[in-house]
Amino acid sequence: MSRKILVSNALPYANGDIHLGHLVGYIQGDIWVRYQRMRGNTVYYVCADDTHGTPVMLRAEKEGITPEALINRVHDEHLRDFTDFSVAFDHYHSTHSPENRAYAEDIYGKLNTAAMIDTRSIEQYYDPVKEMFLPDRFIKGECPKCGAADQYGDNCEVCGAAYAPTELKNPYSAVSGAKPILKTSEHFFFRLSDERAVAFLREWTRGSNAAGARRLQAEAANKMKEWLGEEGENKLSDWDISRDAPYFGFEIPGAPGKYFYVWLDAPIGYLASFNKLAQKRGDINVEDFTDATRAEASGTEMVHFIGKDILYFHALFWPAMLKFAGYRTPSQLCVNGFLTVDGAKMSKSRGTFITARSYVEQKLNPEWLRYYFAGKSNGTMEDVDLNLDDMIAKVNSDLVGKFVNIASRCAGFITKRFDACLSAPDAAAITEFSAAWNAGLIANCYEERDYSRALREIMHLADLANQYVNEHKPWELAKQEGQEARLHEVCSTALTMFRDLTRYLKPVLPTLASQVETFLSIPELTWAGAWSPLPAGHTINAYAHLMTRIERKQIDALLAANRESLTPATAAATANDTKVSSSQQRHAEKQQHAAPATETSTGHISIDDFAKIDLRIAKIIDASHVEGADKLIRLQLDIGEERPRQVFAGIKSAYDPATLVGRLTVMVANLAPRKMKFGMSEGMVLAASDPEGKTGGLHILSPDSGATPGMRVK
Ligand code: 2FM
Ligand code: ZN
Repeated sequence: MSRKILVSNALPYANGDIHLGHLVGYIQGDIWVRYQRMRGNTVYYVCADDTHGTPVMLRAEKEGITPEALINRVHDEHLRDFTDFSVAFDHYHSTHSPENRAYAEDIYGKLNTAAMIDTRSIEQYYDPVKEMFLPDRFIKGECPKCGAADQYGDNCEVCGAAYAPTELKNPYSAVSGAKPILKTSEHFFFRLSDERAVAFLREWTRGSNAAGARRLQAEAANKMKEWLGEEGENKLSDWDISRDAPYFGFEIPGAPGKYFYVWLDAPIGYLASFNKLAQKRGDINVEDFTDATRAEASGTEMVHFIGKDILYFHALFWPAMLKFAGYRTPSQLCVNGFLTVDGAKMSKSRGTFITARSYVEQKLNPEWLRYYFAGKSNGTMEDVDLNLDDMIAKVNSDLVGKFVNIASRCAGFITKRFDACLSAPDAAAITEFSAAWNAGLIANCYEERDYSRALREIMHLADLANQYVNEHKPWELAKQEGQEARLHEVCSTALTMFRDLTRYLKPVLPTLASQVETFLSIPELTWAGAWSPLPAGHTINAYAHLMTRIERKQIDALLAANRESLTPATAAATANDTKVSSSQQRHAEKQQHAAPATETSTGHISIDDFAKIDLRIAKIIDASHVEGADKLIRLQLDIGEERPRQVFAGIKSAYDPATLVGRLTVMVANLAPRKMKFGMSEGMVLAASDPEGKTGGLHILSPDSGATPGMRVK
């Protein structure tokens, strides 16, 4: 029986660019949707911009435009980015929409009726200059635990402590710089700790989707156990769902000056986008997907693709809100991990904080990335590493070297020698090839989002198809007398194999698959039915090149385009290179809200300015002379990253490389990498010297014992 599934991806914030970190989850979602459709299931795939909250409000103010103008602009940019990567939502909406307001008000009203909303007075920091309450991220001060300066209101980036903003010492507003005051105000709370909610969530955690797959991946189910505690325990806290004016969002009905907190109406945006889609199409019964009773009766599903950092919102608040408002709850959460690039967190100074736009503008093929990300996705919440050299190798060897190669070696003979018309295939070869398929296994892999395993299977089949071509060598048959029929048969057979490989790859490579459908002159490939070979007499179109190889210089240009050097204008962002979740950029955003760096007329720098320099303890794991350089030593420095940093240091006059190996020193880790004649220099080591050169020496720094590679120096 065919399934009816509403699928969503997490809604990106309307105040930042889409980057490769986001795309991991979107590409995973889009592949799943395409696969389900190839199976004949009905899928509605929706997303929207997450538009509300203080950051959007302040960003618009800074740009001198209305929040509406800002979110309209960003909406178009986001949609264009997704479209360029073939992430094909049926509708891309906005949480600032009439549909979202209507659902938010309805859900809130029903939660009120169900006695799931409380009001309470809370004391919070207030900016007397800006006349607004300050979200935790907009308050800075000294860490109450370690005393580090300029820490955010919720946790310390130096010692990792978590605390309440009221615990910060010498707090100041990151918006105006003013000293905040404590002020009381009435807030609304969703009663997540209500025993009905706790009991429901325990039950919901155990569920499965219509295909029998677990509602939550093993890691997510474990997290739920941790959050919910043992049976009989109640570890959940109520959730503050209101914010005071000024706030960009929806005013709460009957509560002037109070607004729904952005996270209350964000997931509701899934329903709003779906509702808008239904209005556009006119053939969808919305309640079959949204109403608890109707959804149960019609067997519809609702599946959310999200990043692991927003699991808490999607596995606790969201299902509980829906449940007690009489709405259907999510059938399944598909949670992905963070993205790292070359084993390290995405970094603006290294150029690995790569935007979707720059990737397209540098003319890299989006399907390269889709293929690579698919190959790294195994259906778990593990982090995904984009290893750029590995991506080049995989795409070039699998897609160009194996897959496209089958068609490029055979198509020309068919068009030039046989009038583009196929012969009957080599029945024995097709039987053998089909026997090697395990279509059921590949389907299961797609269903469970283990795309990595699906691609390994498919590449195994591509090897078999190549073996067939290599054994029969059409290029030699073409030169031999009397081998016309054999040449015709071999090339026709290889093209049937190529068609079926394309079918399997189609969820991952939709653009390439569509080019192949045109080239082979066949209807859109689906998963259904018995696959008969391309028949004798079938005419194909001229072969046009399907995919080029990636070259390292294209990747280097991409990194250069994304690299921000440590200039004052960009330093605030650079100082805070961040591991970014694949679905979002909350951590990255905090950089945008940091107080501007201040320079004083005395020539002093502020502590903020100093904090921009990322000093690390580095272990010298290799040191060597640089041929042709009088002053330089090439160092390989371990700072706790996956691979060592290469740094060229001008210390040859003072050190013999051999004596340096094994020593600990201090390096500047966020200096923009510099291309030198001898290679890239990825940082700088610190050394003391006498400015007048009297002592003649250079002295690299050493930490006291106990310091280890990667430790931050402050
Ligand atoms: O974390 C984020 O990027 C949020 N904008 C995700 C929202 S997903 C859903 F709840 F809307
Ligand atoms: Zn601290």
